[in-house]
Amino acid sequence: MTDSPLRPLYFDCDTGIDDALALAYLLASPEIVLAGIGTVSGNTDARQAARNTLGILDLAGREDVPVSVGSHDFLARPYDGGAPYVHGSNGVGEVSLPEPARPVADGTAADLLIRLSHEHAGALEVLAVGPLTNLAAALAQDPTLADRIAGVTIMGGAALAAGNITPVAEANIANDPEAAAAVLAAPWPVTLVPLDVTMENVFETEHRDRLLASDSPVASAVGEMLDFYMDFYTNSYGRRCSALHDPLAAAIAVGSITPVNAPAVPVVVDVTDGPGRGQTVCDLRGQRRGAFDHPGATVRVVLATDRPLADHLADRVAGTARETPTTA
Ligand code: BDR
Ligand code: CA
Repeated sequence: MTDSPLRPLYFDCDTGIDDALALAYLLASPEIVLAGIGTVSGNTDARQAARNTLGILDLAGREDVPVSVGSHDFLARPYDGGAPYVHGSNGVGEVSLPEPARPVADGTAADLLIRLSHEHAGALEVLAVGPLTNLAAALAQDPTLADRIAGVTIMGGAALAAGNITPVAEANIANDPEAAAAVLAAPWPVTLVPLDVTMENVFETEHRDRLLASDSPVASAVGEMLDFYMDFYTNSYGRRCSALHDPLAAAIAVGSITPVNAPAVPVVVDVTDGPGRGQTVCDLRGQRRGAFDHPGATVRVVLATDRPLADHLADRVAGTARETPTTA
């Protein structure tokens, strides 16, 4: 059992510009303790994601947080080279982060998650903002894992919104639908944060400017990265801004943003080879009658939140130096 009064969190990511912004947010969030980070291929490969993660932790002076490299390839398909057109060739918009001063932790990300689940049995929370390969690997390695996890928050999927990597599929789920199917079927409570809400939360250039003006090295580095991300999203929104996918999932996991419409419903992941591959098929047929949780459903699908994220995110990340939590 944990002896920490704070909430231990395992963070699984494919760092990535919005992953980096989510990490900056977590580092500035006194509600949780970052117990460990696992990386996975997605936006970039798992090793580069770990380098990026260690670089950000170095800037934050958080050498205490273990980082393990997870899966390079997906369960059924090889890693395909990521999304350099969205996140840059190094995953962080061509920004140079410090060369990591320490090695990654021994063992895989799945090993780290399982170890932390024993150290904080019943209390460990999981936040996954990349493909779900590491979580699926951990479940396969230890089928009792789900019993020791307090909750899982996932950035992924598209419930009623359009996809972003295919007409119907969101990138994290589409990269590894087999892993997503296993994770969503496991007996742990999941909060799924899909494109329906993440695309509705955006950073404008003035939010980026607040990060750039901050005296926090983490905030200014992430502010630099957002230049590349905003270039990409200009085409989606028709103005210079960026979606806040992973930071919204982080803020929901932390508890600063509250879902106000998040029914627990059956969610099926399309694992076929057809045009629906990677789609999250959410049974929202009861949505017009108010509360319509399905008995026994373990996945809550976030369709609306209590307030916009951007100002809170900018304030918290820009104040990182003042808000760095004490370590467990
Ligand atoms: C998700 O895909 C990645 O590109 C982002 O980091 C985010 O996790 C959005 O579809
Ligand atoms: Ca991500």
